[in-house]
Amino acid sequence: MSPSFARIAPTYDALRPLSAEDRARLDAMLREAAIDAGDLVIEVGCGTGRLTLPLAGLTRARVMGVDTEARMLDVARAKDVAGRVEWVRGSAYRLPVADGTAGLVVMVMVVHLLRQRTRAFGEARRVLRPGGGGEGAGQLCIWTFTPRHVEEFYLNAFFPSIAVIDRPRFPAVGVLGDELRRAGLARIRIDVREELRGMEIAEVVDRVRGRYISTLAMLPPLEYRLGLQRLEEMLAQDRTITLAQRSEWAIITAHK
Ligand SMILES: C[S@@+](CC[C@H](N)C(=O)[O-])C[C@H]1O[C@@H](n2cnc3c(N)ncnc32)[C@H](O)[C@@H]1O
Repeated sequence: MSPSFARIAPTYDALRPLSAEDRARLDAMLREAAIDAGDLVIEVGCGTGRLTLPLAGLTRARVMGVDTEARMLDVARAKDVAGRVEWVRGSAYRLPVADGTAGLVVMVMVVHLLRQRTRAFGEARRVLRPGGGGEGAGQLCIWTFTPRHVEEFYLNAFFPSIAVIDRPRFPAVGVLGDELRRAGLARIRIDVREELRGMEIAEVVDRVRGRYISTLAMLPPLEYRLGLQRLEEMLAQDRTITLAQRSEWAIITAHK
């Protein structure tokens, strides 16, 4: 089942604010890819431009955001008052640029939505600048969650089906590495990073009500209602309750 991002588009940014770690990662990604003014950077599955716009603010390169969901792109365009980014409705399987033209392709929280990951990685490879396996080669950068993140997700205690749904969507990093190699990418590096934060119960309830992760929209309706009810009861009893959230990210880079 594929979740719809059309419904969540208007509230997406408020429910998923960018963290300081996200911003630092964007900066590090651009520096590592040695992107300059003449380059093209493509964010595949850019959504509302939550990361695309800050990314465009960090570089003078041409920046393109590609997404299948028109409503997500509408939000992105409305925020981009300076017209800094080219927003294109398109698919990870058929990117709207010529072969060998991009210095960097970015996929953040997208690969779990792709039914044919290797095909999408092959398409990213097609558009990346060739570099003969050397330093000038274009780079694909993927941010996703690890299986450990799925198993330890802070909402699992309220919604047991989240892990069942997400296990196949977030494979082991070694599986992603093998798929990238099969797609013809090389020099693959996988960094696993942990982030810890406390979330106030009121914020958790807001996020769950807004179905801030696609998995919440895929739950059996009764399980969703009962889990939300438990969280709302906790909020009513004690607003000072904080839930500990541990995230484990896989940051994967691969070269043409
Ligand atoms: C979880 S959101 C992440 C958005 C953005 N990368 C971010 O982190 O804020 C996933 C996005 O991927 C898009 N998407 C899903 N399948 C796609 C595909 N095959 N090609 C391009 N975009 C896709 C969805 O429409 C959605 O906007």
